[in-house]
Amino acid sequence: MIARTFRLTLLLLSVLSLSVLPALAGHGDAKPPRQGVLLVAFGTSAPEARVAYDNLDRLAREAFPGTPIRWAYTSAMIRTKLGAGGELPDSPALALARMANEGFTDIAVQPLHVIPGFEFHDLLRTARALEGKKDGPRRVSVGLPLLSTEDDLARAAELLTAAYPARKGEAVVFVGHGTEHPAGVTYPALQAVLAERSAAHLVGTVEGRTGPEEITARLARQKVRSVTLVPLMAVAGDHAQNDIAGGEPDSWASIMTAAGLKVTPVLAGLASSDAVAGIWIEHLRQAVAGLAEDHAH
Ligand code: CO
Repeated sequence: MIARTFRLTLLLLSVLSLSVLPALAGHGDAKPPRQGVLLVAFGTSAPEARVAYDNLDRLAREAFPGTPIRWAYTSAMIRTKLGAGGELPDSPALALARMANEGFTDIAVQPLHVIPGFEFHDLLRTARALEGKKDGPRRVSVGLPLLSTEDDLARAAELLTAAYPARKGEAVVFVGHGTEHPAGVTYPALQAVLAERSAAHLVGTVEGRTGPEEITARLARQKVRSVTLVPLMAVAGDHAQNDIAGGEPDSWASIMTAAGLKVTPVLAGLASSDAVAGIWIEHLRQAVAGLAEDHAH
C-alpha cells in the first residue's frame, strides 16, 4: 500500500512537472533578447603587457559595434593581485552571472588563450553550468582558442613567418607556455606546419619537453648564430619578461647567450598583432553566430 501510494505520488509529480516546465520555459523566453560579448583571458599584472589585451578589446569593438563587451580573468592569483585595495576583476562565472543579472540573454564568450588546454575546458564547464539555468543567460556560446583547428595552425604559421622572417644563420623561436593537458600536442603540431615553410622557425615551451637546452642543441646543429625569441602567448607578461627574456641564468635568453648565440627577445604578446589577433576575432564571430543556432541540451 505504501509502495503504491509512493508510485502514485511519483507519477503525479512527473505529470505536474511536465505541465509546469513548458510554462516556466515560456516565461524565461519572454525576456527581451540582449546580446553581449565576454572576453576571457588568463590576465596579467604587468601594466606594460596590458596593451595586447587593449588591442584585442579595440578589435572586438570594431568587429561588433554596439555590442557591449566585458572582460573576465581566469587566473585567481591575477584577480587578487589586480583587485588589491580596489574592485576585484570578474572570474568567468561571475562575469556571466553579472551579465545575466543585467539582462543579457545571449552571451558569446571568447577565450584569449593560445591552445585549448585546462583553462579552455574549465571555461566550457562554467558556460554549460550557467546556460539555461534559472537567472542564468539563455544561451552561452564559447569560441575556440587561437590555435584550435588545422586552419588556425596554417594561418598562424603564415602570419608568424611573415612577421618574423629569418635570414641565413638566423632562427626564430616561438616560445609557448606548455601544458600537461592533452592539447599540448598543439605545440608540435604548429612546429610541423611551420616546418613546411621554413627550417628556421621553431616552437618551444616554457614548461615541457622542448625547453631552451633542446632548442639550443637544435640551433647548433642548424649552424644558427642569431636567434629571435617570440612569446607564443597573448600578452608579454611574467613568462615573457622573466622565463624567456629575463636576466636570471636559467632564462631562455641567458642559456642561449651562454651557448654563444646572439639573442633578441621580443617583448610583445600575440594579441598586439592585428593580423594574429584576427584569428581570435574570427573565432569570436563563430561564437556569435553560434548563439543563433538551435541546440538541444
Ligand atoms: Co604560467
